[in-house]
Amino acid sequence: MPYSRKVMEHFTQPRNVGEMKDADGVGKASNNVDGDLVVIHLKIKDEVVHDISFQTFGCAAAIASSSMFTEMVKGKSIEEAQRIDKQMVADALEGMPANKIECSILAPEAFRQAVEDYRQRKRIH
Ligand code: FES
Repeated sequence: MPYSRKVMEHFTQPRNVGEMKDADGVGKASNNVDGDLVVIHLKIKDEVVHDISFQTFGCAAAIASSSMFTEMVKGKSIEEAQRIDKQMVADALEGMPANKIECSILAPEAFRQAVEDYRQRKRIH
């Protein structure tokens, strides 16, 4: 199965790319097999994802998934956003080749880590 039109669109024009100054939480996830990495930066207001950005050092599927994931979670509560899994991201991208579905797990996992980081910082301050 080739990449869908949506995967190619998000790969060539990714949304919400880059570092974030004064992020409330930062999280990372990497692929154990190839070491590809996704970093998620978050701004949280009243338990809602107010802003999100990503940096992905990985394949086209990982970049497109990260871009789509950021669009899916922006404006959602943390709780709702944490329910978004790799299959939901792949579906929103009009499908993913079977051997690439695991690349879609990195952004949701990095998001979970960023939420952990946010909670940790809140406990400290
Ligand atoms: S994340 Fe490594 S091949 Fe997709």
